[in-house]
Order: sequence, then structure tokens, then C-alpha cells
Amino acid sequence: MPATVIVGLQWGDEGKGKTTDFLAEQVAMVVRYQGGDNAGHTVVRGDEVFKLHLVPSGVLYPHITSVIGSGVVVNPARLIDELEMLTSRGIDVRRVRVSRAAHAIMPYHVALDRSLESRLGDGRVGTTGRGIGPAYGDRAWRLGLRMEDLLEPPILRERLARALPEKNVLLAAHGLPAADVDALCDLAAGWGARLRDHIDDTTTLVQDALARGDHVLLEGAQGTLLDLDHGSYPYVTSSNPVAGGACTGGGIGPLQVDEVMGVMKAYATRVGAGPFPTELEDGVGEGIAERGHEYGTTTGRRRRVGWFDCVPLRHAVAVNSVSSIMLNKLDILSGVDPVRLCVGYTIDGRRVDGWPSSAASLARATPIYEEFAGWDEPIHAVRSIGGLPANARRYVTALEEHAGVAIVLLSVGPERSQTIERAWRPMRHRPSLPPAGERRASPARAAGPTTAGMGHA
Ligand code: GDP
Ligand code: IMO
Ligand code: MG
Repeated sequence: MPATVIVGLQWGDEGKGKTTDFLAEQVAMVVRYQGGDNAGHTVVRGDEVFKLHLVPSGVLYPHITSVIGSGVVVNPARLIDELEMLTSRGIDVRRVRVSRAAHAIMPYHVALDRSLESRLGDGRVGTTGRGIGPAYGDRAWRLGLRMEDLLEPPILRERLARALPEKNVLLAAHGLPAADVDALCDLAAGWGARLRDHIDDTTTLVQDALARGDHVLLEGAQGTLLDLDHGSYPYVTSSNPVAGGACTGGGIGPLQVDEVMGVMKAYATRVGAGPFPTELEDGVGEGIAERGHEYGTTTGRRRRVGWFDCVPLRHAVAVNSVSSIMLNKLDILSGVDPVRLCVGYTIDGRRVDGWPSSAASLARATPIYEEFAGWDEPIHAVRSIGGLPANARRYVTALEEHAGVAIVLLSVGPERSQTIERAWRPMRHRPSLPPAGERRASPARAAGPTTAGMGHA
């Protein structure tokens, strides 16, 4: 029962949408497991560009069941818009499923997110303003509304009547208008009526698919360095983009994951505030931003650009147990000379090779660079590693050595076909369990599949 997790290894926008779309051709189901419409995943099919925020990036294929898992926070109005946008462009959305247990982002979450950001002033996180933090906060505080609540107006009313007095204290403190139970009940029941056919028990759907032997892809949003636990807190998002989040938010167990494909691009970007040691604030950065169209898919903000940083890469490979990598946007570095690669930091006069857990330490980090000769040739049309300029190959090899994991897919343009498949092997299959009788007879054998799984045979 193969499941592959696709996870961002940087600060988001690594090209997870392209990676998911590329791999989705081979699978039956794609599951988004965390985040919300703060994500913006771009899929390019021929000359058509799709920007997806909530619906998984496999939706363009008619054979895919697209699942929005319980770990996602769903703004129902934005989901309805997205489904309508896809339908108007000829995409069949009948197989889009939304977890009953996913939490709904309400208008007061959006208002509080934006208000808190403006009150934080220079200390702001630079959120996408989509209500993500407040919605996850209410989930943890047990004041949230789940998608299933939208289907039953009496329960919806009860939940809102329970939450709104608390919310209204906060809204008043922010100088925001109070939320009204009747008005929100009508609004949310309307969303429920519209989404009724999509709301489902997605954990059962995912487990049934795996039990049938269907291949399931789990599509992360954001990236490891924006992870609530493993990023540079507080300059992070409010969920767990790391591969472990695919288990909690997608409804699978750790041993059901066969492969973790890390997605990264040939340089770094970051949207929003927070330390970024390799940031380029010069013409080189400008050039990369322009050629790479580094403007946020969700907010339109210009992304900050920097050299690739191997310190967080090593951290990301470890915390996600990355087993293969897709490297995107190598084409954007054509014409950059030299190309720098950060391999360690100096912090307070000392060499540091590990990712500092504190944002304050990270802010004091000075990068130590290795330098690579660049290449001038455009590489959009290259379809094999051997066809790349030698200097590009050297840079890719260095990235791979620092990661300690094979780069199996390499992308040289936004379109599906602009992908180099290198050393591609079928996604791993864990050996199946011995027959039940044998397992009972010999308890030691029961550990077999676990050991095989850990060994990544
Ligand atoms: P995601 O959030 O990780 O899915 O990434 P985004 O879609 O926000 O940003 C990646 C951008 O780069 C999108 O506009 C993609 O179409 C584009 N892209 C992906 N891979 C490549 C590539 O190899 N080369 C170029 N030039 N663009 C790419
Ligand atoms: P995809 O899936 C890049 C960033 C925001 C901000 C921080 C917190 O397209 O890679 P939030 O709105 O989540 O509370 O904001 O996280 N951020 C992203 N940056 N790509 C994303 O998604 C992001 N989603 C959130 O800019 O710094
Ligand atoms: Mg994005």
C-alpha cells in the first residue's frame, strides 16, 4: 500500500504543485494534509496555468480522487470559488473530497489575522492574511467549527453560540465589529448546502485506497522552514508541513509512508518576515526574482530571494526522512556567475553546521559560501542530465552531496514536460506481510515489515 509524501524543503514555493502534478499521473489519489488557502500551487499544462490554493494539484487528471484532509483549515467560500473556477475551465471536480473533520476558516479568523498583523507592526510575521493562525488556534482551543458542522444547522448554531462570546471579546479588543450568531449560521449553512456532496470521511477514503493497493500522494503546503515546530518560530505558519504532518493531517500511519519526496528549487525564496541568512538584496537577487517570477501566488508579494542554503537543507532532509528529491527551477540560474552555495554559518564567531532552533541565532548567522562557475546557456529544452552544461551538473551534484539523497527529478521550466527524469525508479513497495497464520506462529517475523520499511530497501 504505497503512499508518497511530497514535502517542501525550504520556505514554501519550491514547486510542489508542479511536482505533484508530474507524479499524479501515476497515482489514484492526491491528499492535501495541512495549511489552507495560504498555499498557492501552480500547475502548468501546455499553455494553461492553474493556481490552486486548496484543491490538491492532481485535480487536472480525471482519474484522480482529490482529498482535502482533516489537517487542512478550509475557508469554505474560497473553496467554493476554486471549485467554480476549475469547473468553468473544464475540470471535473466531482471527485474532490473534503474531510468532515477539517476546520472551517470563518470571517472573524481572517479579520483577527489581519488585525493582529497590523498591531504587531515591525514584529509582524507577514502572514498571507487568510486567517490561518486564528483558525488553527481555535481548533486547539476547541472553539472551532468543523466542515461536518456546516451540514447540520442545529449543531452549527450550537457551536457558534459556544464560540462567539469568546470571539467577540477578542474582536472588541481589536476594535472589530462583533460576530452575530444568526448571520454566521445562515452564511455557514449556505456553504454546507453547496459543499454537501464533497464533505466526506476522508480518513476512511484514504485507508480504503491504501488497502486496495492504490497509490496515494500526500501533497504538503508551505515548507519545512515554515513548520510550527521545525521552522524559525515565530516566523512560521501554524501547521506542520513536515512529512509527519501527512500522517496526522492525511489520516495515515507512519509505516504507511513508502517514500518522502523533498521538493526544493535551485536557489532560496521566502515571503513574509523572518531571518534569511543567504538573502540577496542586490542586482543578482533582482535578476533571479524577475526571471523566476518570484511573486506570491496567493498574495502577489515579491518573494525575497537568496542563495541556496545547505544548513536548513540538511535539517529538512533529517526531520522529513527525505528519500528522494525533485530539484526545480535550475533554468533560472542560467547567466548567473558565479553561483554561491551556503554550506555553513558563522554565528557569534563560531562555525555552525546545524540549523539553529532560535530565530534570534539565525538572524545573527553569516553564511559560509562555496562558489561554482555559472553557465550561460538556456536549459529549458534539455531533457537529460547529460544535456546540461557541465557547470550546471557540478552544481546539481554538490546539492545532492550536501543533501545526502538522490535528486531523481530535475525541472527546467514550469511546464509538465520540462522535467528530467534521472535515475527514476518505481516508487518503493514494502514487502507484504507474511500470511496471518505464520505471523501468529512466529512473533519475531511480525517485526519483518517494520524493519524492511526502516531500511528503505
Ligand atoms: P509551490 O507553492 O511549491 O507549489 O510553488 P509555486 O507554484 O508557488 O511557485 C513555483 C513557481 O515556479 C510556479 O510559478 C511554477 O509554475 C514555477 N516553476 C516550477 N518549476 C519550475 C522550473 O523548473 N522552472 C521555472 N522557470 N519555473 C518553474
Ligand atoms: P505554498 O504552499 C510561501 C508564509 C507567509 C508568512 C508565514 C505565515 O504556496 O508554498 P500564514 O498566512 O500561513 O499564517 O503566514 O508563512 N507562507 C508561505 N510562504 N509559500 C506558502 O505556501 C506559504 N504559506 C504561508 O508568507 O511568512
Ligand atoms: Mg506557492
